[in-house]
Parts: sequence; structure tokens; C-alpha cells
Amino acid sequence: MDSIGSAGLRQGEEALSYPEEGLPGPSDSSELVQECLQQFKVTRAQLQQIQASLLGSMEQALRGQASPTPAVRMLPTYVGSTPHGTEQGDFVVLELGATGASLRVLWVTLTGTEGHRVEPRSQEFVIPQEVMLGAGQQLFDFAAHCLSEFLDVQPVSKQGLQLGFSFSFPCHQTGLDRSTLISWTKGFRCSGVEGQDVVQLLRDAIQRHGAYNIDVVAVVNDTVGTMMGCELGARPCEVGLVVDTGTNACYMEEARHVAVLDEDRGRVCVSVEWGSFSDAGVLGPVLTTFDHTLDHESLNPGAQRFEKMIGGLYLGELVRLVLAHLARHGVLFGGGTSPALLSRGSILLEHVAEMEDPSAGAARVHAILQDLGLSPGASDVELVQHVCAAVCARAAQLCAAALAAVLSRLQHGREQQTLQVAVATGGRVCERHPRFCSILQGTVMLLAPECDVSFIPSADGGGQGVAMVTAVAARLAAHRRLLEETLAPFRLNHDQLAAVQAQMRKAMVKGLRGEASSLRMLPTFVRATPDGSERGDFLALDLGGTNFRVLLVRVTTGVQITSQIYSIPESVAQGSGQQLFDHIVDCIVDFQQKQGLSGQSLPLGFTFSFPCRQLGLDQGILLNWTKGFNASDCEGQDVVNLLREAITRRQAVELNVVAIVNDTVGTMMSCGYEDPRCEIGLIVGTGTNACYMEELRNVVGVPGDSGRMCINMEWGAFGDDGSLAMLSTCFDASVDQASINPGKQRFEKMISGMYLGEIVRHILLHLTSLGVLFRGQQTQCLQTRDIFKTKFLSEIESDSLALRQVRAILEDLGLPLTSDDALMVLEVCQAVSQRAAQLCGAGVAAVVEKIRENRGLEELAVSVGVDGTLYKLHPHFSSLVAATVRELAPRCVVTFLQSEDGSGKGAALVTAVACRLAQLTRV
Ligand code: BG6
Ligand code: GLC
Ligand code: GLC
Repeated sequence: MDSIGSAGLRQGEEALSYPEEGLPGPSDSSELVQECLQQFKVTRAQLQQIQASLLGSMEQALRGQASPTPAVRMLPTYVGSTPHGTEQGDFVVLELGATGASLRVLWVTLTGTEGHRVEPRSQEFVIPQEVMLGAGQQLFDFAAHCLSEFLDVQPVSKQGLQLGFSFSFPCHQTGLDRSTLISWTKGFRCSGVEGQDVVQLLRDAIQRHGAYNIDVVAVVNDTVGTMMGCELGARPCEVGLVVDTGTNACYMEEARHVAVLDEDRGRVCVSVEWGSFSDAGVLGPVLTTFDHTLDHESLNPGAQRFEKMIGGLYLGELVRLVLAHLARHGVLFGGGTSPALLSRGSILLEHVAEMEDPSAGAARVHAILQDLGLSPGASDVELVQHVCAAVCARAAQLCAAALAAVLSRLQHGREQQTLQVAVATGGRVCERHPRFCSILQGTVMLLAPECDVSFIPSADGGGQGVAMVTAVAARLAAHRRLLEETLAPFRLNHDQLAAVQAQMRKAMVKGLRGEASSLRMLPTFVRATPDGSERGDFLALDLGGTNFRVLLVRVTTGVQITSQIYSIPESVAQGSGQQLFDHIVDCIVDFQQKQGLSGQSLPLGFTFSFPCRQLGLDQGILLNWTKGFNASDCEGQDVVNLLREAITRRQAVELNVVAIVNDTVGTMMSCGYEDPRCEIGLIVGTGTNACYMEELRNVVGVPGDSGRMCINMEWGAFGDDGSLAMLSTCFDASVDQASINPGKQRFEKMISGMYLGEIVRHILLHLTSLGVLFRGQQTQCLQTRDIFKTKFLSEIESDSLALRQVRAILEDLGLPLTSDDALMVLEVCQAVSQRAAQLCGAGVAAVVEKIRENRGLEELAVSVGVDGTLYKLHPHFSSLVAATVRELAPRCVVTFLQSEDGSGKGAALVTAVACRLAQLTRV
């Protein structure tokens, strides 16, 4: 066996040995001693195997590989960066679980200035044994009691205190302030805590106690506190090592390597929980009979086998077991034992530390042994010192192997040949056992020679670090509150939506009667949905949505469509009317040429998606432009005339414009061709609007009382009389003010694709100004109008998209953001689109209820034909609309049909009907 300490080792390797000189000479008893101590020797090869096996387990756990069960847990914390040094404020820190049976409360002041440290005030409380093994509630009540006892003598207010909770047991964290205990370790075994959120348990206890108003802001493992509290030095401190009652380490891992996190950037602190490392293959050979006995008699047999060789809770016990063994075999104390020596837990870590310390002198060892009821001779004292040294040296070496594994992992993760890193060390074993530290450091050098490691002892047991994390968590919590406040007005409740529905209903009635109303309720002269008898070839135009299209529609037993998209440059949409209509005719001519239709005068249906007062099917006076159009000299004109004039100007073509239809009507007709129950048309695209079949008797201004007529509601203008003021936010006001038609189309501006991105952008600007987003830095990009397209909402909210893709989308826009930012942006998008969908649903509910009542029906079954990019592309919009309608109009069974062919088909069908009727009148 390549035993450490044997001759011929390289320089530095002696760190792995411990003194053997002066052991009793060869005899039976000395053989027994040798045999005993030999068991605690670990060879370099064994340490290397442990290092390699632990590294393997760490990497397996990081990959999220569950089988075979990884030997370490690798628990991600929510700490994403080491301290900036700018954190400041006063914090209460509660430490539970690091140091034996005690609980510590600290008052930590962070100054925000590097190098300027205020000594924390602290108090330690002993946790009674019955509490450590009792009911969980009792433990947390005890903690709450200690907190107030400590705070009572501090000059602090009873309100608004922020607390960081250092809880040193394996926990699944799901947030900076949410952490579920996996299992107790060390000397704790309180009932009813495993599987529970320990932060909530503490909050509940503080509330039960009632003395102080304390906000538990963050929870951390002691290793994390140790790492985060490390003085900022030349090199980053990215590892926290604790050897106290138990042992463990944390380190900064590349987030992309932590499978459970779904993050591709930055780093995250991972708690290794190496205490549970249990690879029997590599640990088996180093486990002694004493380890087996200790494990067997412990609170958690079989668990934390690695920790039980290193942690301070166990070192004294291991020494005791060895001493008792040697005494029983007559090698120590003349074969005498004492009740103390034979009872569990009588030798503590402090005893071992003192006895092992060569400077302590024989007298001190003597005294300690005497206190245990033993009568040691001179050789006994020496042998006891050897035993202590052997147990501690092994602990330090094993700990070094584990730390070397973490360093190798850091090196792998960073893909670096050599690594310069600082390790913050904490815990009583590290702090008070100089030999432990030197053996640890020497062994690490040997096992990870490519790493240049500096060890930095933590100043105050990690309290400062816990406060650092708490400061960050408090800042994030404050940001969350601001985010919630900002988004609150977007979250509409049932009553608010029902009020929108009721107002809409009132406005519909007034509009139909010709009274002042923000709903114009424009008759369309479409009196019936298609009946399938329509036939012929038609041209159609589709103007006003995202795309301008020219179409050839062949209606036989089915419908065949050939179409082409043409662009309408913004300069044309907002130029002169003549220019716009000339451009349209140019596109038609081009289309006819390409389709071999030149010279034919097919009947033409014109989908014109703007509010028009129609006096017949082929006459529509543009009332006002909406959306991005603003061509001059068109408002107040008959659009069909404007088109005919342009045709005349172009001379070469003949066109027969038969019908002008709104896109809602085209969509209703198009879907109605497939489903005769389709009596509503809905658009949620660039703009939003709806039409439906109204009883003619209710429509003032159109002669006749029987039958129905399709009414173009122009609901985009709903609320232009101020009736939506209650719901309008300051962001809506900003979007409205910056639009080309301030004060107009207020409902549309809360719902449709042309505006949602802008609303989001204004909210993001606001949150940035509050410092909640993008670290408070305003970017030029975000100041740019329309930079945040509504399609981003659809992309960002897509369920299949991971947060990292959300970030990629925003980074493409030049918005560099953290994952916290990405999550908040997602929430903003959700709030804005949810409100849009709900408002739209309230509108549809008003329409279906009106139809139901018109017809005096108990229940109405009706279909809605829908079109528009927002409705079609957004992952949740359609289901939110449907859910709102179900809630607000429970007596209507509403089916939503997505229009696949666009409204051009509907315009052609309207044209077909008109042609058929015209023929009939001619006959
Ligand atoms: C199209 C219709 O499919 O949808 C158009 O053919 C309509 O008539 C449009 O205006 C609405 O959606 P968007 O998103 O293009 O405005
Ligand atoms: C135990 C705990 C771990 C802690 C360590 C040191 O191993 O499970 O969370 O960090 O002790 O206190
Ligand atoms: C705008 C128009 C309206 C159209 C809607 C959808 O609101 O005014 O006519 O139906 O956009 O495109």
C-alpha cells in the first residue's frame, strides 16, 4: 500500500503525514496501538480516488442524472453573484444548525463601503436537547424567543426589521426566501419539519411570538454565508468551506451546467452537501471499525457517512471510541475505564483540539482526562495525543480531497488550465485547529497542484455574508413590490369586466338608436350570411391589416383563392389620398397582369378596414382613419369613389367595384361560408373591432323592420367618450398621447397589436426609472418608439420558450438583462396581454348577450369568426377571451372559428350575393 508518510515522497507530501515518533515500542500493546492508528491512515491513492469519485458524483448531479442516485446533492442556491461591496443597511441574522446545539443572533450593519466594516453584535443561545429532538414548532418558537430576547437589548425599532436566516441543513431552495428541508443532519431531529419550507415555519413562529415585526428576507446555507462574507480581495472568493459540527462546501458554478436551472448565462452558487457522500467503493477502505460503531449509534445511521469522519460533532466521539477500545484492552489507563469514557458524547471537539495541540502541554491533557474520571500516566497522555492527531489528520485529509474535487470542478466548468481562487473557510474546526488547516492546505496542494488557492478565514462565522445575501434579497423583494404595484391596474377582476360589458351594451343600444355614443354601430347592408349558392370569379382587395392583398377568388362548390401581398409604405399610408389610391390601382394592375386577367372586368369586393358610413353595399364614406393610416383628403369621402377615380386616372383598366366591406364583415362572411351559425366577426390584429347580425327593427336609419343586418360596431372607439377612464392607466395615456390620433380608439389602444408592445415599452421604461429593471439604466433602445413589437409578447409568452430565450429576444433588441429582469419582463407582457384578452372577452360577451336577448332565447349557441395576428399568434389570447366570455355570458355557448382565408374571401362572397341580387332585379 502506498502509505502516506513512507519514505521517498516529494516535498510537500509530508503534509499528509502526522508524527509517529515516540509511539510505544514493539510489544503486544504497541501492535494494538499501531493497528488502531493504522486504520486512520489514508493513502494518497485513496484520497485521489475519493476526489475523483466525488467529482464524478458532483458532475452527475449537476447534469440532473437521477440514476444511479448521485452521492452528493448539488443544491442550487439563489445566489447568483459574489458581493459587490456596495450592499448596505442593518440586518438581523439568525444562525441555526452550524454550530452544534447553539443558535446565534446577530445584528449586522453593512456600510456599503469596501474595507469599512462594523463589528456585528451577537448573542449565542444554547438549544435544549429536548428542543433539538422535539416538535419542529417548538424549535422555531425557541428561535423566535431568542430573536426577541436579543433585540430587546438592542437600540432598534420593533418594526420593519429584515432578517437573513442561516439554516445549515440540506434544503431545496425555490427562491431566496423559500427553502424546503430535505432531511435533518448533525444532532437535530425535530418532527414535522422535513419537507416543509423553513422560512415559513420561522415566519409563523415570529408572528406567533408577536413581539417584533420581522421580515424573513433570505435563507442561506452556512457555506454560502461564509463565501459571501469573505473580504473582497485581489482574487474572487468563489468557494465557501465549512468544517464545524458538520462539513460542507459551496462554490460558484456556471449556471449553464446546472441542468435543473434552465439558465445559460452567469453563475450560481451551488451547495455540494458533501457530508452525504457515500461511495462505498472509495469510502469503504477508509472506514474504521470506530466509524461503523459511531454511525450505528448516531441519530441517523447510514446517512452522512463522509461528514461523520470530518465534522466536529463526530471527532470527539471517534477519539472516545478509540480510547475506550485501547483502555478496554489494557493499553491505556492501566486497563481502567470510567463511566464518562464509556458514555456517548463525553469527549467534545474542544477537548480533542486542546489535547491534540502540541503547545497545550501534557498537563492540560492530563487535566482533561482526569475530568473524564481517568487516571492517566505519562505514556497515556502521549498516546491520547497521538489518537487525537490521527483522527484529526484523517479528517483534514478527507476534507482536502473533497475540496480538491470542488476545485477540479471549478476548473472543468471554467475550462481553464490553471485556476486562481480564494476559498473562504469557516466553522470551529477550521478556526480553532491550526493543524487541521495546515494539513488541509498541504493536502489540497498535493491533490490539486494546478490550482493556486488562497484560504481566507471568515471573520464572523458568515454573519456578514448572510447579511449581504439578505441585502440583495431585500432589494429584489422591494423590486417585486414595485412591479406588483405597477401591474395592479392591469389585473381586472370580475366586477370590473362585468362593468365593461354593461357599458358596452349601453353604448351599443345608443349607437343603434343614433344617439351620442362612442360606438358608431354602422349598418353594412349585408343582410344574410352566405347560403352556399354563390358562384363566380371575383377580385378582392384587402386593405387595413398588416398586409395589403389583392386576390382572385373563384367561388364554385368550394372557394379557390390566389392572392398576392403588396406593401404600403408608411409614406403612402400617411401621404395624400390620391397617392394611396393610385398605389392600390397599380397593385391591382400588376396582379391582373401576373394572373393573366388583364382586360377582364371582374366584379370587385373591397375589404376596407376602417370606419365607413355605408349607404349601400357599394358606397362607404370614410369617417376617420384609424391605426397607422392618415392619408389626406379621404375622410368624409366615399372610398369606392376614390378608388373609381384612381381607376379612371389609370385609364388602361376597367374595374367593377361592387361592394365595400369591413374586415370584420369579411371575416364573418368567410367563416359563415363554413358554419351558418357564424353571426359575429371579430378582429384582433393591428386594430380590433367586431360586427354581428342585428335585428333590423333595432337599427335606426335603415328602412325596414324585418330581417337582420350586419352591424360594424367600430368598437375600437369604445370609451372615446371617457367611459373607460376608470380602467385607463398612465401607460395607456402615454401610448395614446404619442399616437397619430390622440384621444381616439381608446379601447383599441388597450387591446390590439399596434399598441400592446408600446404599452409594454412604457411600463419597462417606468420600471427602469424606478431602478427595478436593467439596473436602472435607461437605454436608447427602450426610448425608441415601436421598438417593442407586439409579436415579442407572443414570443415571450410562449410556453415552450425558456426564460433564456426570452433573454435572447430582448438582447437582440439591445437590452442586456439578468434572469430576474427577464422574469419581470415576462410578467409585464403577461399582465398587458391578459388585460387585452379580457377586455376583448367582455366586448364579445356584450354582443352575444345582446343577440340572445334580441331573439328572446334562454340559451344562445353562436359562432364567432375571428382573424388578426395577435389573436392567432399569441399563445394564450384566444383561451383567455373564451374564458372571459364563458364567465360573463354563461347563457351563451360561443364557438370561436379562426378565419383561415382572410377576409378577402368574405368580401368576394358579399360581392357574389350582390351580383346575384343585381341580376335578379335586372331580370
Ligand atoms: C387578415 C384579414 O387576415 O386579418 C384582414 O384578411 C384583416 O382583412 C386582418 O384586417 C387583421 O389582422 P392584422 O393582424 O393583419 O391586422
Ligand atoms: C451539514 C449540513 C450542511 C452544512 C454543513 C456544515 O452537512 O447538511 O448543510 O452546510 O453541515 O454546517
Ligand atoms: C380599426 C378599424 C376597423 C377595423 C379594425 C380591425 O379599428 O377602425 O374598421 O375593423 O381596425 O382591423
